[in-house]
Amino acid sequence: MALRDIHLLGSPALRARCAEIATVDDELRRLIDDLFETMDAAKGVGLAANQVGITRRVAVVGVEDDRFVMINPVITSAEGRVRAEEGCLSIPEVYGEVTRPERIVLEALDREGKPFRRELEGYLARAAQHEIDHLDGIIFLDHLSLLKRELLLRRWKKEHRGGELVRKVTPERDSRG
Ligand code: NI
Repeated sequence: MALRDIHLLGSPALRARCAEIATVDDELRRLIDDLFETMDAAKGVGLAANQVGITRRVAVVGVEDDRFVMINPVITSAEGRVRAEEGCLSIPEVYGEVTRPERIVLEALDREGKPFRRELEGYLARAAQHEIDHLDGIIFLDHLSLLKRELLLRRWKKEHRGGELVRKVTPERDSRG
């Protein structure tokens, strides 16, 4: 297992529509292990492959003890609406309130390539939706009003004067999403 560098806002990988995964093999499982390790080191609750520069449809989610990988994830139903604060490991120090469905049904493949279906709610549902957005090249700022988005982008530019497109993850870094 290895820590991967996390791509930051401005990296084209974050705007890619990621490719479906045809084969679940050992190489993919190594990527999944790295995603979990990198998410944990960065103290995130989710991480999508394109956030480490791999534009394939796989992401991990981990909220407290509930941790899972989703390969080729699809949301087959969604209901309710709830607003809550989100952040993103690719946009450190920037947080915004995002409205999303409260409950979803998720279908995906697990790390053995077997299909599974889960009903998710609460923060887990939010984290899964945030990560599936990533696989479609969408970031949480895209859900905000233009005014709010521009405000947060200005904050990001101020926080992020170096302008680098990737960051090294070290266990003491503290961030989210
Ligand atoms: Ni994110």
